[in-house]
Amino acid sequence: MQEKIIIHGGFFSESSDSEEVKVAKQNALANIVKEAFEFLKTHSAMDAAVYAVSLLEDCDLFNAGLGSQIQSDGKIRMSASIMDGESKKFSGVINIEDVKNPVFVAEKLMSFEDSVLSGPEALSFARQHGFSYFNPETSSRKQAYVKKLAESAGVGTVGCVALDRNGKLAAATSTGGKGFELPGRVSDSATVAGNYANDFAAISCTGVGEDIVRAALAAKIVTRVTDGLSLEDACNKSMQELKEFDGFAGVIGISSTGEIFKVDSHPFMVWASYSDTLEVFQ
Ligand code: GLY
Repeated sequence: MQEKIIIHGGFFSESSDSEEVKVAKQNALANIVKEAFEFLKTHSAMDAAVYAVSLLEDCDLFNAGLGSQIQSDGKIRMSASIMDGESKKFSGVINIEDVKNPVFVAEKLMSFEDSVLSGPEALSFARQHGFSYFNPETSSRKQAYVKKLAESAGVGTVGCVALDRNGKLAAATSTGGKGFELPGRVSDSATVAGNYANDFAAISCTGVGEDIVRAALAAKIVTRVTDGLSLEDACNKSMQELKEFDGFAGVIGISSTGEIFKVDSHPFMVWASYSDTLEVFQ
């Protein structure tokens, strides 16, 4: 089977992102998807999806890991989840603080019976398993917080969907949340609405978590593909349903037949994919 991979870096914010930022995001996504595709050639879809998301978390252009948005009380709380399409195992962390790569904590939880942890307990688990202190705050996020640039909030997350040489699918998603949200708010990214995979399809979402949860978006698209729709039709039908409440979301996906598809409800999600060739958002 030809390996395939697609990643997203949330939405381009026309109100706060410059042309320079757009080019920087194009370059970063192109480099990360190329590196993750090389990795996928010798690793499983699950390992590659985790690896790609960790690279996205390490890039401060995106709202996940380093450079995450700051919440209304001045703290950064991050959420991430992974799902293996073959085993149907889902694991995640919700509102974890002070770690470098939330996606690696989610990966660590995969082998535990209690596979989704939140808040301080997620952090204690991380510390018990060797994840050291890391402050993900960057000066630009701090400035945005201080100026209360709320218009840039709500549209950032990173994600990856991969299909490996054995035909297995996986998805991983990570976020710093909406920015300026109430402490305790739960993102879609560590739920099956924002990240889902089985033997038929894998999906990672970005956008406004509340809209994505209302639509049960990732799980619904994967169910539709499982029941026989093409990935494109399943995504388009589900995005059409978002219009009922002007839902704000972007989706990347791959099906077991090798179909890659991405779609957004508003301009515009930033993404890159690699199979036979590299493709990057324009
Ligand atoms: N999709 C990220 C969030 O709403 O938290």
